[in-house]
Amino acid sequence: MQSSLTPRLVVLTGAGISAESGIATFRDPQNGFWQHFRPEDVATPEGFAAHPDTVYEFYNIRRAQLADVKPNAAHIALAKLQQAMGDKLLIVTQNVDDLHERAGASVLHMHGELKRALCQHCGESFVWESDFTAADACERCHKSGGLRPDVVWFGEMPYQMMKIDIALYNCERFVAIGTSGAVYPAAGFVESARANGASTLEINLEPSDVSALFDGHRLGPASEQVPLWVDETLASL
Ligand code: OAD
Repeated sequence: MQSSLTPRLVVLTGAGISAESGIATFRDPQNGFWQHFRPEDVATPEGFAAHPDTVYEFYNIRRAQLADVKPNAAHIALAKLQQAMGDKLLIVTQNVDDLHERAGASVLHMHGELKRALCQHCGESFVWESDFTAADACERCHKSGGLRPDVVWFGEMPYQMMKIDIALYNCERFVAIGTSGAVYPAAGFVESARANGASTLEINLEPSDVSALFDGHRLGPASEQVPLWVDETLASL
């Protein structure tokens, strides 16, 4: 049953929502990050321990690229929906970019954020907008040698899963936008939402790996499909 404290609508976004802004997705057969890098090298604690310089560089380059991109119509439409719905909408993103925020939305970054550093000495996470390496010192404990990108790597627990699970099990509607359904736990959100009877919609360029689990599908670019869906949703509030 819907509680007055939980969102009615949960939206999950993935790399596809930022693709038209110019940020590569992970699994695009030509330009995807995982065509050029091995995830085990740059997105695991073991890869970081073995080749820290490569890992710092991978995230430093991606952080710097954020200066050259801007939110597209899909990010802007979701921010408009959040303005209308307030707490009744929870936006969860797997993306580590800041395009939702720059469009005016407040989102939960389950895989962390490029523009944050995490100190492995004291556990503090803080905004860090420029390049950094092991030589840089933590803002809180002032020790160097402990900073890592505050992003969630394979084998690590995504952020705020309890809050997300409660929202999924209590929502009326779940919408996934621009995600391949290849990485759990996010790929399983559709099943959690369905467990309590939520209706489900996938908006993606092509059917995802978990497409069959959704009630509805809208295939096409996020910059076209998301504004259309948002306008329909706003009209039905
Ligand atoms: P993927 O690269 O796996 O999938 C992107 C999805 O977006 C694909 O299904 C594309 O078809 C779709 N897509 C591409 N362009 C689109 C557009 N213009 N409009 C709509 N859809 C479009 O990215 P994610 O699903 O976000 O995790 O990847 C999930 C996780 O895997 C990432 O957060 C990352 C990665 O490994 C970690 O690094 C831990």
